[in-house]
Amino acid sequence: MLAALLDEEGDGGGGFSDEEIVDFMVALLVAGYETTSTIMTLAVKFLTENPCALAELKEEHAEIRARKGEAETLQWDDYKSMSFTQCVVNETLRVANIISGVFRRAMRDVSIKGYTIPKGWQVFASLRAVHMDHNHFKDARTFNPWRWQANSGSSSSSSSSSSSSVINVFTPFGGGPRRCPGAELARVELSVFLHHMVTRFSWVPAEQDKLVFFPTTRTQKRYPIIVERRDDS
Ligand code: HEM
Ligand SMILES: *[C@@H]1O[C@H](CO)[C@@H](O)[C@H](O)[C@H]1NC(C)=O
Repeated sequence: MLAALLDEEGDGGGGFSDEEIVDFMVALLVAGYETTSTIMTLAVKFLTENPCALAELKEEHAEIRARKGEAETLQWDDYKSMSFTQCVVNETLRVANIISGVFRRAMRDVSIKGYTIPKGWQVFASLRAVHMDHNHFKDARTFNPWRWQANSGSSSSSSSSSSSSVINVFTPFGGGPRRCPGAELARVELSVFLHHMVTRFSWVPAEQDKLVFFPTTRTQKRYPIIVERRDDS
């Protein structure tokens, strides 16, 4: 990416200034690197604490491996077939809230639920508050990947109307024109990481650790684990 940006500069006319290039690189590192590594760490933590979810995830990925043999790389179709993984990804994003909310500025006076937000004011929209709301997510504090299962597959069920309303309030990547441009990439990265993690390794936590939310969401000690290569393959 840096090379591409520097190339633009070399072309003269319409290229980026050094300051713009630095801005791009820092923005990508902050927005794309910490977020992804944090969500991977938290997925491992939540799965470690939920052996049933981990077992079901392992099963899904063992099946994919069995289909492909040991060395063949993952393809898009494989990714698309990871239905339980997608539940785990959503539930991890929901519980983790690694971006707790987003700022918006009112471009004009906005009336909402009897309040007026005057033009020019800044608003902090708390994504976490919505994701942790019991009205939207039953037992909201519990990591429960199966709650997403009603959404996968097209078979209509009695819960289809409630599940679509859940998706409307589930916005881990923000919303509108400024919605995270890395959202799909982040989902793929987490899924591929989980595939290799559960098919090739087993692990146990090395220390007690806990989630902290300020100033950013992360684990206090970075959730150290003791990893072992699995050789049952
Ligand atoms: C789990 C991982 C990630 C989460 C939870 C996340 C979440 C978010 C959120 C909530 C926003 C603000 C959206 C808004 O204002 O409505 C955002 C913006 C952004 N994200 Fe992500 N992100 C993740 C990964 C990534 C990755 C992998 C990249 C790039 C490789 C990326 C690049 C960006 C950029 C450039 C913006 C600023 C967009 C703008 O202001 O127009 N993010 N992200
Ligand atoms: C995960 O959430 C997204 C919304 O961000 C939704 O489109 C998708 O259907 C959800 N996946 C599952 C398996 O519920």
